[in-house]
Amino acid sequence: MAADLPNSVKQLSDSGAFSSLHLQFYASRDPSAPSDVDATLEPQIPTIDLSLLTGAAPQERARMVRQLGRACQDWGFFMVVNHGVPEGLRQAMLEATEQFFDLEEEAKEELRGETVLDPIRYGTSFNTKAEVDVRYWRDFLKLVVHPEFHSPAKPLCFSDVLRDYATCTRRVGMELLKGIWESLELDDNYMNRALKLDSCFQVFAANLYPPCPQPELVVGLPPHSDHGLLTLLHQNGVQGLDVEHGGKWVHVKPLPGSFLVNTGDHMQIVTNGRYKSVLHRAMANGERTRVSVVSLVGPSLDTVVEPVVALVSSERPAMYRGWSYRQFLECQQGNQLKEKSVLELLRL
Ligand code: OGA
Ligand code: NI
Repeated sequence: MAADLPNSVKQLSDSGAFSSLHLQFYASRDPSAPSDVDATLEPQIPTIDLSLLTGAAPQERARMVRQLGRACQDWGFFMVVNHGVPEGLRQAMLEATEQFFDLEEEAKEELRGETVLDPIRYGTSFNTKAEVDVRYWRDFLKLVVHPEFHSPAKPLCFSDVLRDYATCTRRVGMELLKGIWESLELDDNYMNRALKLDSCFQVFAANLYPPCPQPELVVGLPPHSDHGLLTLLHQNGVQGLDVEHGGKWVHVKPLPGSFLVNTGDHMQIVTNGRYKSVLHRAMANGERTRVSVVSLVGPSLDTVVEPVVALVSSERPAMYRGWSYRQFLECQQGNQLKEKSVLELLRL
């Protein structure tokens, strides 16, 4: 990294020492991405009531399963309410995350990882492998939390909160997956075995988007899809997430207390394209720091994931070749984050 550049976006934002050079450096709007924002769509983002999905009433469950299937098919994105994760824990996770980013730069620097599979990886948004050093207006911390649990030692409270948060969000993810398999008439036990979900690969990611004096010049996180099966996101009440829907960006304003959930690339692979991963991006703002915490659930790392036989037919041949999740991640690491490029590589 060039000597005159700060270590993190937070350090740059805190210093107030912006120059147009810095801003140019961080500027990276993608002209090829959908540009219009459709404000009218936002209230239609589907909502799933998890208590009805997991409750005792079979008719309610059947209704929720249908609703979940439609949400996956039409949007790849939905809000989950009545999920059973205590609000206190969700809040504590956001607070612990802010405390992490408030640590001294040197303490965070020790956690800089090199590869996507490093179990603890702090970074600021640039990709050293890319031809052009592209920077985004975001600092992040990524942790592998299952099947093995990893956490930074500081701040002191972080590890305990994270352990609970990872367990609770994994449980929600598994309940949703059960409902999703059911919506496609797939057998839950079969899917659990095929994807080795007992040893599912779960990543926790924390994102920090400090205020930017010229937010229109920068992107927090460029348009991308997530690599796992499902992603659960929770934010600190500051908006900034856009989801692609029908060729337009939709600003997301989550219902209080909800998780924002989206389907990932491995959902698209395993369902043979029936349910697709969804493009989303995060934008910076001029006033307030935005924090999001993301829990990403995927198959086990060494399972070869391919379209399930039940969803492959002569009319709908297999669209993707089988690859392990590990191979997928290593390939993504070698490329600059660019929309759904790895998925395209797998297409038959
Ligand atoms: C991610 C992500 C969006 C956000 O971490 O993959 O898409 O709003 N985050 O922080
Ligand atoms: Ni994402």
